Amino acid sequence: MADTGSGAGFTVWFTGLSGAGKSTISHVLAERLRAHGAKVEVLDGDVVRTHLSKGLGFSKEDRDENIRRIGFVCEILSRNGVVAIAAAISPYRAVRDEVRARIPGFVEVYVECPIETLAERDVKGLYKRALAGEIAHFTGVSDPYEPPLAPEVTVNSSRETPQQSVDKIWATLEHLGLVSFDRSALAHQRI
Ligand code: ADX
Repeated sequence: MADTGSGAGFTVWFTGLSGAGKSTISHVLAERLRAHGAKVEVLDGDVVRTHLSKGLGFSKEDRDENIRRIGFVCEILSRNGVVAIAAAISPYRAVRDEVRARIPGFVEVYVECPIETLAERDVKGLYKRALAGEIAHFTGVSDPYEPPLAPEVTVNSSRETPQQSVDKIWATLEHLGLVSFDRSALAHQRI
């Protein structure tokens, strides 16, 4: 791929409940972007919490701090030509909007999935424990999740494959002028 000209990348911010598919979809998107020559970094909540946010818990204050840290890294990466992809629950609207306000080219992706489906999938076994009252402050069960009011794109992992979700996201990135229409290179422009 050509370099990004202006030097600017952008940030794709995935938000949604635990197990909704944020990581899976973000990695499929990352591969597609790389195949088109982009430099990409994925900041996954589960991974970030073992490094950058080690020691933070799940209180509102700690989650907001986690999101600010991830947002700061996304900001630095995107202004240096990297496509930063964040995949964290990021349950609180206000701090998501705070991060949005700092980053030119911020694309919010809401990964929807009914809680019943998540509880059935329960890949990590956490919903079972949360529903049994064993995990306090579990997002969507015993802690709030504030869906975005105006995300750039909404995908639904109970109705779409990860590839289909990435197709939708890609179409949005094209529409915003962040990837080119011929799908061969990143566009040299910001939204
Ligand atoms: S966030 O709220 O700060 O954005 P983050 O995405 O980093 O959360 O971490 C979420 C992951 O932590 C979940 O996918 C799950 O594996 C784990 N987790 C542990 N405790 C909780 C909890 N109380 N609520 C939500 N997720 C939790």
